[in-house]
Amino acid sequence: MALVHGKMLLMKLSLFLLAAATTLLAAAADKLLPPQAKPNCPDHCGNLTIPYPFGIGDGCYISLKGLENQHKLICDNSTEPPSLNWTNSGVRITNFSLAEGELQVMNEISKDCYNNLGGRVLNTKPGLSMNPPFTISGAKNKFIAIGCDTSAVFRGFRGEQEFITGCMSVCNNIGAVDQNSCSGVGCCKTDIPDGLKNRTVRLGSYYNHMEIWEFNPCSYAFIVQDGHFEFNGTSFEQLENIEQLPMIFNWQIGNETCDVAEKSTVDYACQANTMCVNQTKGPRSGYYCQCLPGYEGNPYLGCQDVDECSAEINPCGNGTCHNSPGNYSCTCIKGFRNDGLWKCIAHPKANNTPLKISLGICISFFVVLVGIFWIYREDKRRKFNKLREKYFEVNGGPKLKLKLQQLASQKEYLGTTAQIFTAEELKKATNDYHESKKIGEGGYGIVYQGRLDDKREVAIKTSKMSAQIQSDQFVNEVIVLSQISHKNVVKLLGCCLETKMPMLVYEFVGNGTLYEHIHKINAKGPLSLALRLKIAAETARALSYLHNSTSTQIVHRDVKATNILLDEKFTAKVSDFGASRLVPEDQTQLSTLVQGTMGYLDPEYLQSNTLTEKSDVYSFGVVLVELLTAKKAVSFDKPEAERNLANVFVSTFEKGQLDPILDDEIVKDGNREIIIKVANLAGRCLSVKRDERPTMKDVETELDGILKTLAKQPGGKPHSSSKETDHSVESPLNSYVVEVRGEGDGGSTSIIASAEYDASMQNQSQMLKPFDDGR
Ligand SMILES: *[C@@H]1O[C@H](CO)[C@@H](O)[C@H](O)[C@H]1NC(C)=O
Ligand SMILES: *[C@@H]1O[C@H](CO)[C@@H](O)[C@H](O)[C@H]1NC(C)=O
Ligand SMILES: *[C@@H]1O[C@H](CO)[C@@H](O)[C@H](O)[C@H]1NC(C)=O
Ligand SMILES: *[C@@H]1O[C@H](CO)[C@@H](O)[C@H](O)[C@H]1NC(C)=O
Ligand SMILES: *[C@@H]1O[C@H](CO)[C@@H](O)[C@H](O)[C@H]1NC(C)=O
Ligand SMILES: *[C@@H]1O[C@H](CO)[C@@H](O)[C@H](O)[C@H]1NC(C)=O
Ligand SMILES: *[C@@H]1O[C@H](CO)[C@@H](O)[C@H](O)[C@H]1NC(C)=O
Ligand SMILES: *[C@@H]1O[C@H](CO)[C@@H](O)[C@H](O)[C@H]1NC(C)=O
Ligand SMILES: *[C@@H]1O[C@H](CO)[C@@H](O)[C@H](O)[C@H]1NC(C)=O
Ligand SMILES: *[C@@H]1O[C@H](CO)[C@@H](O)[C@H](O)[C@H]1NC(C)=O
Repeated sequence: MALVHGKMLLMKLSLFLLAAATTLLAAAADKLLPPQAKPNCPDHCGNLTIPYPFGIGDGCYISLKGLENQHKLICDNSTEPPSLNWTNSGVRITNFSLAEGELQVMNEISKDCYNNLGGRVLNTKPGLSMNPPFTISGAKNKFIAIGCDTSAVFRGFRGEQEFITGCMSVCNNIGAVDQNSCSGVGCCKTDIPDGLKNRTVRLGSYYNHMEIWEFNPCSYAFIVQDGHFEFNGTSFEQLENIEQLPMIFNWQIGNETCDVAEKSTVDYACQANTMCVNQTKGPRSGYYCQCLPGYEGNPYLGCQDVDECSAEINPCGNGTCHNSPGNYSCTCIKGFRNDGLWKCIAHPKANNTPLKISLGICISFFVVLVGIFWIYREDKRRKFNKLREKYFEVNGGPKLKLKLQQLASQKEYLGTTAQIFTAEELKKATNDYHESKKIGEGGYGIVYQGRLDDKREVAIKTSKMSAQIQSDQFVNEVIVLSQISHKNVVKLLGCCLETKMPMLVYEFVGNGTLYEHIHKINAKGPLSLALRLKIAAETARALSYLHNSTSTQIVHRDVKATNILLDEKFTAKVSDFGASRLVPEDQTQLSTLVQGTMGYLDPEYLQSNTLTEKSDVYSFGVVLVELLTAKKAVSFDKPEAERNLANVFVSTFEKGQLDPILDDEIVKDGNREIIIKVANLAGRCLSVKRDERPTMKDVETELDGILKTLAKQPGGKPHSSSKETDHSVESPLNSYVVEVRGEGDGGSTSIIASAEYDASMQNQSQMLKPFDDGR
């Protein structure tokens, strides 16, 4: 059944012979843009609008050198559409597509008709002129043949290359014809290649339609725009009356590709806001122009911005449309957002007003909370500062300041003055009164060890008392005490008045109290006889100084072992002036409530109710006895008669039977003579009558003498120089430190019932009555 025409013919029934080399974008919606002929040129022929680069008449169409008249149209009939200058006048143009570089023409149908005797009555072979510049679109057209005794051959040239394709259709009766599709029975169809220039269609017949003449006397063949001819049972009759069917040409400008054409400023056809597209469908190159996206119009005359916003349907939906060159943007109303495709769509999140409101409430609530907290803090801080100022005022801060200034300005004054510390400073020095800084606690308050910014170690005495102090008295006391500058007196460095109860800052003395050393508490003691005498002498010197040397007489009033501190070199330092009082100038005696510590208290006080410097001598006598016997001043675990060490000592001393009560530690070293001397001195100090007691000055002198005697003793005892300075006593005694044996027994401490007692305490005051005596 296959027919062979020429060398290259390969025919397949009703099937593709050649696949289209390229495909066109089918989806692109071709829209004939608004008519735009060149100015002063006819823009219509028949009812067809003519766009530049096509045109009727000189100067109205594009005409490149060597390629003239390609786009020239002939409008020879005012009711008919135009034809191209180079086609037969019957080939009318019915549509233009600038965007695709296509045009639609009406193409003649080839017919091959016979009479009932088998004689051919008609055979048309319509064709195009010799060298058409435009090519037949392969993608948009089909080659179709209709008939029941039909062979159709299609020939075309792509350049010099010839393409031949065709199909055949055979059917015996009309009933056999597939009326629903072009499938080889009554109709055959084939694709054609792109870029063919001229074409011929040859129709042939096997039997001259003899058997089928009744219902099919003719064969038809044509190239038709795809989709513009659908075969069905009535097609045989219809085609008898149809002369033409639409067909698509691809057209282009010139014979060069875009990149070449763009360089030629004279001939380049694409105008403003356009882009160039290579025409790839034909054998020869060429290009056509397109408007850029967002522009419209005739690309060969220049494209204009599309005002998307003026469209009947707002492209932004509910939003506000803003046009821009080649583009537009949307401002969306509340509850909508831009979807990125230039359209406002509902925005679920933005719509969530309850969430927004609750979030807002949360945030503002938080802000208010922070604000309140801040105000509260500020207020507290202000109140705190105010309170500090108030305390400072009440505690006599301004007065103290003034007096200290006066003192410092006095020419003759050379000593140091008290320093006024801020609460902040002391807080920092004690690490905010940290537990580990606590070195003592008593009934009056707590003593902290601290380290000032200038690296000075200090003891800070706080007070638990709630009673208001007498600020005048307090200020005077601070002034006087701070002026005491004696080697054997714990120096008062200053005070802090910004707390309710003033805090006192003392020099820090680091080796415990004499009490600890005598009674071997906290791994202290025992002390050698020489050391004991040195401490006694130094204490006596300090008290003597207090009684005599200062401008105002100071009675310590609470001399006891716990108020004598020792430094690393075993230098005695008398401490705790907390209970000490200044003796007013007009009085030699100061009436007070019961003060002092049981066991050390001057017995005459019970009658006179006053304490004098002789009371200190009595108390010092008790300390001496303590040093000799290593027994506590009051022992509550003993029977009533033996409870008071002073009484026990006095009675045994008077009986001359000292030995049982003396401390073995000192007795074993000999030096009995010296011990007796000291005991003698102690006995005198403990005289019930004040007048019978020596003065502190006498005691000092006597002890110095005893110390000197001891130094002269053979047996490696310290050599004392003849000088009576503190120094001469101190330096040889350094060697005694070695002798201090560590037999500490904390268990022997008996608590004095009437007073809080802590052996680790330095500045200890054990009082029968509170610090504030109510005066
Ligand atoms: C012209 O062609 C375009 C597509 O290229 C089409 O949309 C339009 O309908 C056609 N016009 C006519 C009259 O065939
Ligand atoms: C142009 O006129 C022809 C008849 O001459 C008609 O068939 C066709 O539909 C018309 N085209 C347009 C776009 O009006
Ligand atoms: C384009 O056409 C011109 C004029 O006919 C011719 O001189 C030139 O060689 C052609 N160029 C190409 C690439 O075919
Ligand atoms: C124009 O075309 C119509 C229809 O094809 C035809 O009737 C008429 O005679 C033509 N006129 C001219 C001047 O050719
Ligand atoms: C095409 O146009 C040219 C010049 O305008 C003319 O010489 C030529 O005859 C025309 N061809 C046809 C087929 O009308
Ligand atoms: C078609 O064009 C080719 C070359 O351009 C030519 O050889 C051939 O004869 C032409 N065919 C017809 C039918 O004009
Ligand atoms: C057959 O096709 C033609 C157009 O191609 C149409 O006008 C006609 O109504 C169709 N007939 C049937 C029976 O489908
Ligand atoms: C056109 O074709 C030429 C040559 O094939 C190519 O270099 C150029 O990039 C193409 N231009 C476009 C716009 O496709
Ligand atoms: C615009 O808003 C109305 C109500 O405000 C709504 O009914 C309509 O669907 C919205 N249109 C679009 C495109 O979202
Ligand atoms: C249009 O504008 C948007 C931004 O508003 C941008 O992302 C987009 O690329 C633009 N489109 C064109 C064709 O310029």
